[in-house]
Amino acid sequence: MSSAKTVLITGGGAGIGLEMARLLAARGRRLVLVGRDAARLQAAADELYQTHGNEVHAVSIDLSEPGAAQRLLAHTREQGITVDTLINNAGSGVIDAHVEIDPPRIARMLQLNVVAVAELCRGYGEFMKRRRTGHILNIASTAAFQPTPYLAAYGASKAFVLNFSEALAKELEDYGVSVSCLAPGPTDTAFFDNVDPRRIEGGHFFAKGRRGNPREVAQAGVDLMARGGLTHVVGAANRCMIFGNRLLPRALVAAVSRRMLRPSPVKST
Ligand SMILES: NC(=O)c1ccc[n+]([C@@H]2O[C@H](COP(=O)([O-])OP(=O)(O)OC[C@H]3O[C@@H](n4cnc5c(N)ncnc54)[C@H](OP(=O)(O)O)[C@@H]3O)[C@@H](O)[C@H]2O)c1
Repeated sequence: MSSAKTVLITGGGAGIGLEMARLLAARGRRLVLVGRDAARLQAAADELYQTHGNEVHAVSIDLSEPGAAQRLLAHTREQGITVDTLINNAGSGVIDAHVEIDPPRIARMLQLNVVAVAELCRGYGEFMKRRRTGHILNIASTAAFQPTPYLAAYGASKAFVLNFSEALAKELEDYGVSVSCLAPGPTDTAFFDNVDPRRIEGGHFFAKGRRGNPREVAQAGVDLMARGGLTHVVGAANRCMIFGNRLLPRALVAAVSRRMLRPSPVKST
């Protein structure tokens, strides 16, 4: 095995996670890519190996299942993989009126976005603290900074990621371990694939033309981690929006958020 540092990226086979994998592979990192779709992970691993010659280990696991984080920890331990950097990127969102969402979808989303993140930070973070070195990057969202009607539980799950990351950063900062949190705004990935495009077209906050570039988001995450920063909101417009939110009454922010996020009614033809 080479002496290259190893980065484990959940959701490293697609979207923002794959872009981060590409950037880190170019910096010579050894990678562990985690996701459910084994074929897609293997395609990503093959691409990174062919382009950069990096060692890439693909692990197919569904992190929305209870106990999955423990299985991933056991797997890397059994394989003798030392994780120097953990990127908790895998996440999913359900965009709909909360009371109309199939309950198991809510449970799976919270298990993935919240429980798995906390458990992976617990497991790999303990090891990093003992070694007195390591980096953790958690991907939150601009949805973390205010209530998000029609993504109520998703936004709240990202508020958890934001608060949790900042608290953990303070617990670990004296042990040589940095914890950073990246908050992207809407980004053009498969994240929106399960949303009826007619419900978010036109001037909607999630309209395709308004979404950011996943490569730029990934670059912001890699840069944040490299400087050991605490939290970074991607994009000047998003930073302004969040700053403005802090100055306004919460009731007004919630009302504006509702107007911005309400899905458009689909007209029957
Ligand atoms: N796109 C946006 O607008 C946006 C904005 C703010 C924040 N974010 C956050 O950014 C992160 C990355 O999202 P993305 O936009 O890159 O979305 P994406 O293209 O849908 O990628 C999601 C990744 O997570 C993996 N994943 C999903 N469910 C999983 C599960 N149950 N177990 C293991 N892996 C799972 C997927 O791989 P498999 O399908 O193979 O499992 C995929 O690699 C998420 O945390 C998301 O909440 C996204």
